[in-house]
Amino acid sequence: MDILVVGNGGREHVLCWKLKQSKMVNKVFCAPGNAGIARDAECVDIGVDELEKLADFAIEHRIGLTVAGPEAPLCAGIVDVFEKRGLKIFGPDKTAAQLEGSKSFAKDFMQRHGIPTAKAATFDHADAAIAYIRQEFAAGGKGIVIKADGLAAGKGVLVAQDENAAAEFVKDCFGGRFGGAGAKVLIEECLVGEEASILALTDGKTIVPLASSQDHKRAFDGDTGPNTGGMGSYSPAPVVDDAVMAEVKTLILERFLQGIQDDKLNFRGIIFVGIMVTEKVPKVLEFNVRFGDPEVQSVLSRLDSDLADAMLKTVEGRLAEASLKWSSDPAVCVVMASGGYPEHYEKGHVISGLAAAESDGVKVFHAGTAFKDGAIVNAGGRVLGICARGENIKSAIERAYAAADKISWRGGFCRRDIGYRAIARLEKKNGG
Ligand code: AMP
Ligand code: GLY
Repeated sequence: MDILVVGNGGREHVLCWKLKQSKMVNKVFCAPGNAGIARDAECVDIGVDELEKLADFAIEHRIGLTVAGPEAPLCAGIVDVFEKRGLKIFGPDKTAAQLEGSKSFAKDFMQRHGIPTAKAATFDHADAAIAYIRQEFAAGGKGIVIKADGLAAGKGVLVAQDENAAAEFVKDCFGGRFGGAGAKVLIEECLVGEEASILALTDGKTIVPLASSQDHKRAFDGDTGPNTGGMGSYSPAPVVDDAVMAEVKTLILERFLQGIQDDKLNFRGIIFVGIMVTEKVPKVLEFNVRFGDPEVQSVLSRLDSDLADAMLKTVEGRLAEASLKWSSDPAVCVVMASGGYPEHYEKGHVISGLAAAESDGVKVFHAGTAFKDGAIVNAGGRVLGICARGENIKSAIERAYAAADKISWRGGFCRRDIGYRAIARLEKKNGG
């Protein structure tokens, strides 16, 4: 069968690379793709928001399965458009995609189905929201989390230790800083613990977790600097030990499955659960209805089974028949970004060392890259994800950085401490 992947980031690159390895797959197309994806798939010049055009393409090219990478087309209803035209597509429909597209929809879902999450209240007006914040701080609260309700490209959340900063952010939300996304806000209790990412396949009847992973959201070493889309990842996440995973399954994933059944949500795709491993139970910070980027680069680097087969079974409601095998070798993904990211950055600088960086066990996934005069240049904030497997997390990290050190362009940078939490846990365990 031929496959169409929709998107142009590192997530879509790893999906194309992994799907291409399947014996079931003849050809992989990617719309619109990027300079690195072009090596693993045929890039098609259609944007991720051109839903009807994408469906036309799928029909013309007899695509057997389409995989929508990013949240925007899912929230815009790409699954509804494709299914109406009899096409197979991996992902939730527009209603179910609100689990990511609306934080109040997701919170309401979690509360109704008994899924552990932070206590929260929803507001339609700044005055009531600010009064609530003042009340929480007056009652001795040390911090509060404010979330714009809609999609805000990862920028709509503030974890505030200060009452006035919290109030300002609320005013910004209602003042239109995030467009329509800020017309409603959620105010949440601040959870304390270590974050991890759980991805799970579901066809609405069965739910199957993938290997655990962890992201690094801040721009600079030691988790400092502004929040980003993610500066690196590794899998597995040692914080998700067997006991935590057992709780994730019973308290979160099984209740999620029951919830989508009770609410009759059409969800045949991937659910990405951002969790906080607290002193008590793991609690849900957010749902996303697509693979995490850069988590998926590390996770799929460890998958030893056929991804196309698992995805097709998910779409056809036969996920119970799929089996996923994981390498015991950990994987690490170091993201290289453009100088200045996540704020202003320059584009168009030639990237050197790409071929030298790849070797057995090291793969460079492209995100913001493009061709210019026959060379590959940086064309976005996050540019590359250098992924390596190793017999242990330390060797995977060393291999990823040895490869990253061969790559450069003007301004390009990466964090030097990806995986530090996993190393710290390992040392603690070994040191007793
Ligand atoms: P979200 O988009 O909801 O995942 O929020 C983005 C980031 O904000 C998360 O990855 C956390 O680092 C942080 N965050 C969100 N909700 C909370 C919470 N209730 N307590 C502490 N941190 C949070
Ligand atoms: N890495 C976090 C995300 O994909 O949203």
